[in-house]
Amino acid sequence: MYQSVATDPAAGKAELYGELASQLKGLLAGERNAIANAANFSALLFDRLPDLNWAGFYFMDRMTGGLVVGPFQGKPACVRIAVGRGVCGTAVAERRTMLVPDVHAFPGHIACDAASRAEIVVPLVQNSDVIGVLDLDSPMLGRFDREDQTGLERLAAILVEGSDF
Ligand code: SME
Repeated sequence: MYQSVATDPAAGKAELYGELASQLKGLLAGERNAIANAANFSALLFDRLPDLNWAGFYFMDRMTGGLVVGPFQGKPACVRIAVGRGVCGTAVAERRTMLVPDVHAFPGHIACDAASRAEIVVPLVQNSDVIGVLDLDSPMLGRFDREDQTGLERLAAILVEGSDF
């Protein structure tokens, strides 16, 4: 069973992401359903990472060729995002993590929650195809840094590896 543990404030981000990798592997053990695993992963991130107001997924929709919202924690969000639009669609188009310290300075940012000030979007890559994105929002300017990027890219890879998308 998942047990939330308070993060030691003195512990660094690398240690926190190491713990999250272990917890995510525990949550995925014995289960390969992608929706179930993405749902528990978004809950894990929302529970354990401080200062988030949204954590979740957009997946590539084969019917439209764009992104459609998947499991998440936070306020209801915009349902569809075209490739190349917003932070999420740009991450897909450029096939790279978008680290946005101030969303107001990102041209074309799509505001789902007016409280969001910083955002990080990590593409989910399977067999060299982008199958979706992991999206985290924070009300805190500059909330995400390269350590978050490294940690979240690793966690996203664990999710893709451990699930049938
Ligand atoms: N801000 C995102 C839209 C998704 S919400 O943040 C949940 C974007 O610009 O793509």
